[in-house]
Amino acid sequence: MNVDNFRLQLGAKEYVPIIIGGMGVNISTTELALAAEKLGGIGHISDALVTYVCDRILNTTFVSRKRKKYLQYHNNPDKSAVLFDLEELVEAQKKYIEYTISQKTGNGAIFLNCMEKLTMNNSVPTLKIRLTAAMDAGIDGLTLAAGLNLRTLDLIQDHRRFRDVKIGIIISSVRALSIFLKRAIRLNRLPDYIIVEGPLAGGHLGFGPEDWHTFDLKTIFTEVLTFLKKEALNIPVIPAGGIFTGTDAVDYLRMGAAGVQVATRFTISKEAGLPANVKQHYIDAREEDIVVNMASTTGYPMRMLTESPTLRYAIKPNCEGLGYLLENGGKCTYIDAYYAALAERKSGEPLAVKEKTCLCTGMANYDCWTCCHTTYRLKDTTNRLANGQWQLPKAEDIFRDYQFSSDHTIRLPEIETT
Ligand SMILES: Cc1cc2nc3c(=O)[nH]c(=O)nc-3n(C[C@H](O)[C@H](O)[C@H](O)COP(=O)(O)O)c2cc1C
Repeated sequence: MNVDNFRLQLGAKEYVPIIIGGMGVNISTTELALAAEKLGGIGHISDALVTYVCDRILNTTFVSRKRKKYLQYHNNPDKSAVLFDLEELVEAQKKYIEYTISQKTGNGAIFLNCMEKLTMNNSVPTLKIRLTAAMDAGIDGLTLAAGLNLRTLDLIQDHRRFRDVKIGIIISSVRALSIFLKRAIRLNRLPDYIIVEGPLAGGHLGFGPEDWHTFDLKTIFTEVLTFLKKEALNIPVIPAGGIFTGTDAVDYLRMGAAGVQVATRFTISKEAGLPANVKQHYIDAREEDIVVNMASTTGYPMRMLTESPTLRYAIKPNCEGLGYLLENGGKCTYIDAYYAALAERKSGEPLAVKEKTCLCTGMANYDCWTCCHTTYRLKDTTNRLANGQWQLPKAEDIFRDYQFSSDHTIRLPEIETT
């Protein structure tokens, strides 16, 4: 039995039950999402730092113009006045999503990973814009992630696509799910799918920094299925985090999963946005090189490689151009940490900012090497080339390996000769 024996049913449509999870900033690129879509699965793009991503791939100038506008705040820890131009945000969101959607060629779908914790110093209006502009641009689905806001559905309930676009949520506990569902039931708009993310996932974790390792995906997944059954709710449930082989996926599908969400195996694909040398670091990583820490300014634990350049950042906060993680009122814990470090620095010593990192800059520069717990197994998924480098597989090879492999085998990509 393999994954291809199953199908993911979302509304009237059927998909190969493999979803590539959203990986900001531009790690799950347009090309990676399209690779899944072409093969009948679901690919995510992420709207984290969308103005920056637009500038990078579509030659716009959103970030430099914003930086210029707010230059006078560069040396000022008070960033309360550093706001996004909402019209420009609409424009960037639409441009990026239309660019991706217009290249669809398959029977699959393209969803948007929307991290609600990107509060952008104006949380509610910016979140509303991100979601409505994405629907206007033709996105197939919205996956509400990190920082799940209970009022999110209210924000978009008047949109003409509110009942037709697929809406999913990422949760890590029955508790979070039941709180969200209360509001959804009141609006008569249940989520179309529920992604249950366990403690081994990449990016931010929905667990405490001390106790994440006491949880496991299978248990939470089973609890969610039981809860939905008890409430007589029929919503597809999709586990994520540590599903490394097609056989791991089949185990969940047999337990009642509608599909699986996977990401780490695709971080080293040719289509993923990480620079080629960073992909080599991911493949070389050993288990002891992977840590969960509190360096992210979101307040959530995050898993990353210890080598991540962000962990040694002592750069000036870069909110004028970026500022995606500014809380309302212009606060960010990195700003506090940076200015505290400046005040404490003894003369002649280099500046060292402890505990927090400038995540906007780190993610924009691919300096925050966030990853899943199983990253150390990536070396079993590809070939070492004659020049000592690891071969970067095509997303299609990885997708098909998930879809057709059995007995925990991993089919290595064909060796490239050039
Ligand atoms: C490099 C990387 C970046 C990620 N970034 C995000 C993100 O921006 N938003 C999000 O909701 N999840 C993010 N995730 C989580 C994935 O979307 C996915 O749910 C999870 O990693 C699946 O587990 P796996 O990596 O073990 O296959 C990220 C994962 C990785 C590996």
